[in-house]
Amino acid sequence: MTTMEQELHLNYVLLDSWSELDENDALLLKTALDSAAKAYAPYSRFRVGAAIRLEDGSVVCGNNQENASYPQGLCAERVALFSSAAQFPEKHITTMALVSESSEMPLSPCGGCRQVLLEYEQKQGAPIRLLMGSANGSVIVLKKSSDLLPFSFSKENLNAVGEQAQ
Ligand code: THU
Repeated sequence: MTTMEQELHLNYVLLDSWSELDENDALLLKTALDSAAKAYAPYSRFRVGAAIRLEDGSVVCGNNQENASYPQGLCAERVALFSSAAQFPEKHITTMALVSESSEMPLSPCGGCRQVLLEYEQKQGAPIRLLMGSANGSVIVLKKSSDLLPFSFSKENLNAVGEQAQ
């Protein structure tokens, strides 16, 4: 067996301030922050907001929804993504902004949300940009959210089942 060392590179842009964003992106991040204020997070008190921009310019928001039975709660990103997919299944998502007033560092999606982002990217056949905001004003801009989940599990893995002899 041949051993081959491989490398992965992640390209992203780190901005010091929201003011370096263009008008549409700054507005989307502000919309995410406004949505965070409406989160239901009585247990963690960590309120997160997400705002999705669709190809036609419309915006869908989400915020984290917690529950006394902890695992039943859902992150802001998935609330927004599922809401968008439920209402506008045919419209491409161009960008998602996320932020929490409680995070001093740019907020990045949890593993579960990365998995969901990856699948919607694959479904629409186009990248979903991410704007990861922080309370101190810095923002990370990523061109393609699935870059956050290399070596992922996806539909392709399941497709292989049908191709195997039963
Ligand atoms: N949370 C999000 O909504 N998005 C993230 O990116 C990270 C975590 C929520 C889940 C839970 O309600 C609270 O923040 C604390 O983990």
